[in-house]
Amino acid sequence: MLELSSVHAGYERTQVLNDVSLTSADNGIAAVLGHNGAGKTTLLRAVVGIIRPTIGTITFNGEDITQAAPSKRVKMGMAYVPQGQQSFEQLSTLENLQVVADGKPRSRRRKLVDHARERFPALNEVIDKKAGLLSGAASAAGHRARTHHRAQHAHPRRAHRRNPALSGH
Ligand SMILES: Nc1ncnc2c1ncn2[C@@H]1O[C@H](COP(=O)(O)OP(=O)(O)OP(=O)(O)O)[C@@H](O)[C@H]1O
Ligand SMILES: [Mg+2]
Repeated sequence: MLELSSVHAGYERTQVLNDVSLTSADNGIAAVLGHNGAGKTTLLRAVVGIIRPTIGTITFNGEDITQAAPSKRVKMGMAYVPQGQQSFEQLSTLENLQVVADGKPRSRRRKLVDHARERFPALNEVIDKKAGLLSGAASAAGHRARTHHRAQHAHPRRAHRRNPALSGH
C-alpha cells in the first residue's frame, strides 16, 4: 500500500504538488490523469525519491519512506519506468539491458537479460547494434523491452509506468 499524506513538493523555485494526499492499494492498477504540466511526473518523482517533499509524508507498506533514498525504495519493491525512450545511445542493445541489471547479484543478472531477450525476440536481431542507431520498429521494440525489463528487475510490488500508451502495447 502506497500512501501520500499532504505532500508538497517541486523544484527549486516552483512548488508543483500542493497538499496531495492519496492511497493506492497493492493489487490493482491506479492511473494519474492530468493535463500537460499538471504534475504527474513530479508526483511519481516524489514517490520514487528523485525529489523529496518539503512538507508531508509518503509511506509504503506501512513504512515512512519520505526521506528514503531511491535505492532503498527499489529494494522495497518499487520500480519506476521514466517517460520517453530513454536509453544509452552509445551502448548496444545488450549493454542497455545489462545496465539495468547492474547492481543485482551476479547470478541473477544473466537470467534477467535472458528473460528480456526471450520475451522480446526482436531484440536478438539488433543485440549488438548501438541503441542510438536503431530506427523505427527496432527502436520501438527496444523501448518496449527496456520498459518491461526495468519494471521486472526491481521485482516490484509496484510498477510505476509513465504514459502506459507510450510504454508498450
Ligand atoms: N526539473 C524541473 N525543474 C523545474 N520545473 C520543472 C521541472 N520539471 C518539471 N517542472 C515543472 O513542473 C510542472 C509539472 O511538470 P510535470 O513534468 O510534473 O508535469 P506532467 O503532468 O508530468 O506533464 P506531461 O503531461 O507533459 O508529462 C511544470 O510546470 C513543469 O514546467
Ligand atoms: Mg510528465
